Amino acid sequence: MRRPLIAGNWKMHTSILEAYLLVAEIGKCAAGLKDRDVILAPPNIALNAVSRVLHDSDVLLASQNVCWEEEGAFTGEISPTMVKSAGAVASIIGHSERRQIFHEDDEMINKRVLGALKFGLIPLFCIGETLEEREGEKTFEVLEAQIRKGLAGVSVEDMATTVVAYEPIWAIGTGKTATKEQAQEVHAFIRKLLAEMFGKAIADSVRILYGGSVKPDNVDELMAQPDIDGALVGGAALNAESFCRIINFK
Ligand code: PGA
Repeated sequence: MRRPLIAGNWKMHTSILEAYLLVAEIGKCAAGLKDRDVILAPPNIALNAVSRVLHDSDVLLASQNVCWEEEGAFTGEISPTMVKSAGAVASIIGHSERRQIFHEDDEMINKRVLGALKFGLIPLFCIGETLEEREGEKTFEVLEAQIRKGLAGVSVEDMATTVVAYEPIWAIGTGKTATKEQAQEVHAFIRKLLAEMFGKAIADSVRILYGGSVKPDNVDELMAQPDIDGALVGGAALNAESFCRIINFK
């Protein structure tokens, strides 16, 4: 009942030309996939070029972040309406690189989530614990705080379109994936918490993605878990062959 969703986050990679070439390849292998959604998040500067290549495809686009205001004095930011005008329907928000390197806190991430929703963008809301937090048995506590603060003020109706991505920080770009059991345990916990906050019907319909070193050789077992509804893919999304295998998970 939850439609699988695979998202590719290109991070700060690809020139406009490289993005154009990569999406042309990905677009070919995504054609005809009717039972799942595919979303690509290229760098902002390439969004529009990529969107033109994808004009008659089912592949959707996301920005890698988004501001909460429509316009104004916010140097370096991109607004929800700008992102939409470039062809995106969604925005990654709260990625651990934004949290850790750029010190975005839960309060700012919450503003971004509410801003995206206000302008009709789907938030791909990311959460995740550090290795230290996991080893200190703080995982659930940390994730609960990120969810309660990051989704504060989101209506039940808006939660129905929001996507949650669980990305353990120790698994991002490290080649060290969470085991399917570790990931399933956390996804089930997140769904239970969402049921408490938004009601069971919404929790049962919200898509929860796993992210952190998802590759062609581990995607099938991750996707076979009952509470894993998709993947947020970094490194392997930059290679058309790997990403094509991932979106064609079995
Ligand atoms: P990775 O990145 O697949 O390279 O680990 C995932 C992410 O940061 O979204």
